[in-house]
Amino acid sequence: QQLQMNLEQIEKGGYDHFMLKEIYEQPSVIKDTYRGRLHANKGIIQMAGVEDNLEKFTNARRILIVACGTSWHAGLVAEYIIEEFARISVEVEYASEFRYRNPIINSDDVVIAISQSGETADTLAAIKLAKEKGAFVFGVCNVVGSSISRETHAGAYTHAGPEIGVASTKAFTTQITVLTMIALRLAKAKGTMSNSDYQRYLLELELIPEKVEEALLSNDVAKTIAGIYKGAPNCLYLGRGYNFPVALEGALKLKEISYIHAEGYPAAEMKHGPIALIDEHMPVVVIAPKQNHYDKVVSNIQEIKARSGKIIAVVTKGDTQVRALADHVIEVPDTSEALTPLLTTIPLQLLSYHIAVMRECNVDQPRNLAKSVTVE
Ligand code: G6P
Repeated sequence: QQLQMNLEQIEKGGYDHFMLKEIYEQPSVIKDTYRGRLHANKGIIQMAGVEDNLEKFTNARRILIVACGTSWHAGLVAEYIIEEFARISVEVEYASEFRYRNPIINSDDVVIAISQSGETADTLAAIKLAKEKGAFVFGVCNVVGSSISRETHAGAYTHAGPEIGVASTKAFTTQITVLTMIALRLAKAKGTMSNSDYQRYLLELELIPEKVEEALLSNDVAKTIAGIYKGAPNCLYLGRGYNFPVALEGALKLKEISYIHAEGYPAAEMKHGPIALIDEHMPVVVIAPKQNHYDKVVSNIQEIKARSGKIIAVVTKGDTQVRALADHVIEVPDTSEALTPLLTTIPLQLLSYHIAVMRECNVDQPRNLAKSVTVE
């Protein structure tokens, strides 16, 4: 018994929980993910599974992404990135819905299956179906040699290392890293991005690990905010564009480990329903980095304030406009718009973590949830 406990403490590497350890591993695992693949100084992205099948990707009429849970959220981020960079139409599907609705799949479709464990039953079944219909299926998995990595035609591993905490953290950011590299490689092959933008993105991506390191400095602020809202029964997460999926993921993290009811919404959809929920008891996490729709997010914040909602805003370092309106701000470093999810996600992981710890929840093994869902 004693030996078992000591072993677990060693595995946690000095952290109280696996989840916290995995959150803090993100700078180094993102680097592991792009190591040997991203050569920013040479302007090259090289991923064997993509290179060997480049024509399938560039000739694809559309890309279908299938996944579940957090991996599905990474797919949504990828939809924004791939469409913007490579101008290929992308659809993101819950594997469980896709497999049971006689989907239209053509032989010139590329299907990307995203799965941390590589064992999710619904995702595996979706892959088998897509293969039967003649599509090329590419896997983005973390677990080497997993069922999904074997069942797909080609793929790219995320190299995040073992993820023990049931709530996925480093798997999510490394999935986004892989999918961003794929999008950039396709943009280059298709000529859909200017050389200068391409080069700028490569350099920015290379800087992400140190920026994630800086985003982790928000831990103390996240903990203070957690202390204030740990008793809240509900919480709303809002984001736009690239950060809409981050809002969904932030809400999922909170409900998974703290059992607080949370919903993620595209900020503009707020007025079609969720705004009715806002009063002085409702914390609203708004992801508001300086990017394209910044002004629109600012007006969403004003609408929430007008209804006495409590604003927790994730902003770009140095922001003053949102700071003047929000009850709390958490800063992340500046980066190119498409890469902001890799940074804005970090404080949301920390916020959920601290709230769950303060509520004395079992952070690493939340009730009713499994790390790997091998049954439907
Ligand atoms: C479970 C896990 C989630 C995960 C989802 C998909 O629900 O608790 O953290 O996002 O399965 O898992 P996968 O291994 O396919 O990414």
